Amino acid sequence: MFKRIKRNWFVPKGAEMTELDKKVLSYQNRGCLVPSRKLIKTPEQIEGIRRSGVVNTGVLDLVAQEIHAGMTTLEIDELVYDYTVSHGAIPAPLNYEGFPKSVCTSVNEVVCHGIPNEFEVLQEGDIINVDVSTILDGYYSDASRMFVIGQTTPEKQRLVDVARECLEIGMQAAKPFGFVGDIGNAIEKHARKNGFSIVRDLCGHGVGLEFHEEPDVEHFGRKGTGMLLVPGMVFTIEPMVNMGTWEVFVDEDDGWTVVTEDELPSAQWEHTFVMTDDGLEILTY
Ligand code: MF3
Ligand code: CO
Repeated sequence: MFKRIKRNWFVPKGAEMTELDKKVLSYQNRGCLVPSRKLIKTPEQIEGIRRSGVVNTGVLDLVAQEIHAGMTTLEIDELVYDYTVSHGAIPAPLNYEGFPKSVCTSVNEVVCHGIPNEFEVLQEGDIINVDVSTILDGYYSDASRMFVIGQTTPEKQRLVDVARECLEIGMQAAKPFGFVGDIGNAIEKHARKNGFSIVRDLCGHGVGLEFHEEPDVEHFGRKGTGMLLVPGMVFTIEPMVNMGTWEVFVDEDDGWTVVTEDELPSAQWEHTFVMTDDGLEILTY
């Protein structure tokens, strides 16, 4: 059988072959999936994404200060909108594929893409993911954190902590000229070791010039599989960790809210990263 290699990487006509070209082409010629050139951000683009990330982090820090029992998720949305716009930026979720609000707020058994609303009042013991994405001067950044409202159960607290560790471990597993599959492999192992499961229907993603770019960054998988990680690539890692089954469904009424099949809680943390010559650097600190 003839199997054509997917040739994402090519040297522009007339351009001289750089050391990077030679290196990436050698992987491609061995049949590895490599990024296209446009996924390699220029230093100027990385600075733009970093500036976007500064606003994005400012939003999350503000939410961290203000979030409390008795607050509605709509009030979180208002904070996010006002802060973002007053810093000259745009909340990326607003009107994205019809999403009606500026931020995703996902409480307890909601995995992600929860829609802020005036009827959802945060209660003591809730765990909530606030997922913030910002466009500044055309550059996108994307990060989310968990917040615990007051004190929660030890089990839910451990879920939140393990999800955070999964993000950290995924970050450490990503090496220049490693593979996307290395990240997911490390993350899933850590979740399983702790008796939790990893959502398989949603993944991290390239980001920067658009909200969602290549590659898909799955939070499970095999080492050495998936796309080659080349310095200059910008992407998110955003593991969703479930207390029970990994299976999820989408709320039919709103078409967005992702909920665990068994309605047990879920937790998620996310950063936007740039691959450098010595590993990942966080752009959403
Ligand atoms: N912020 C989500 C992510 O991490 C995407 C949300 S899409 C939205 O990729 F429309 F729901 F905002
Ligand atoms: Co994301």
